[in-house]
Amino acid sequence: MDIFERNPIMHFNDIVFESDDVKRSVGRLLDPNFVTRTLFSGPPGVGKTTLCQYIAQQLVGARHKPDVKSINVSNLKSRSAICGEIENFRGFGALNPLGKAVMILEELDGADASAQLGMKALLDEHSDRLLFLATTNNPHNIIAPIRDRFDEVALLGTDEPNRWLSRAQQVLTNEGINLDDEQCLLLLDQHAHGLSGRKIMRKLDEYAFLAKSNAAGS
Ligand SMILES: Nc1ncnc2c1ncn2[C@@H]1O[C@H](COP(=O)(O)OP(=O)(O)OP(=O)(O)O)[C@@H](O)[C@H]1O
Ligand SMILES: [Mg+2]
Repeated sequence: MDIFERNPIMHFNDIVFESDDVKRSVGRLLDPNFVTRTLFSGPPGVGKTTLCQYIAQQLVGARHKPDVKSINVSNLKSRSAICGEIENFRGFGALNPLGKAVMILEELDGADASAQLGMKALLDEHSDRLLFLATTNNPHNIIAPIRDRFDEVALLGTDEPNRWLSRAQQVLTNEGINLDDEQCLLLLDQHAHGLSGRKIMRKLDEYAFLAKSNAAGS
């Protein structure tokens, strides 16, 4: 098990929000009455997949996990493969609190233009029974009619180490390390500037490993 598996995102407070605006946008998406088809864009490791998975699970509820399906569009590539996945995914939609199933389209920009055009009609056709959430590193590679069908939450990653303090403390405690907030902030200050959440987690892992090795050696 790696640091990510040992520290899954279970609660809203486990997510580090880079701004209050993003936090508000995500908060709205957790309400079945307000959720919309949403595209999370931004560089690697800032939490796009994490947010899609969290929102999807919250909307359908813990008892309806099979109502969430994630496909990696850039792996599937071809129009027939991608459209087939969308058309064939049923879930048990109407039985969950959202009233539909959720399909997460990872790396939406990875579909070529023909596949994206094929998806255009499907997004409309299946919107009664499927909520679509999507991620991309490169929103500019998504054709206009598809982009137009999504609300976009653009993530940049945080440049404020303070925003990571509570999550970092939670992770370090879980890894068996006790630091006071000041020391933890110093650690984050060294590493959190311009780094993705994925990299910050790796730095915490590295720190915990070294601290434990030093303690064992002394
Ligand atoms: N905002 C965040 N809050 C809490 N943890 C985060 C956040 N961003 C990233 N992480 C941590 O980093 C890991 C990787 O994040 P995630 O897979 O969501 O990134 P991504 O934006 O989808 O990256 P990619 O573009 O490479 O797919 C998560 O499992 C989580 O542990
Ligand atoms: Mg991702």
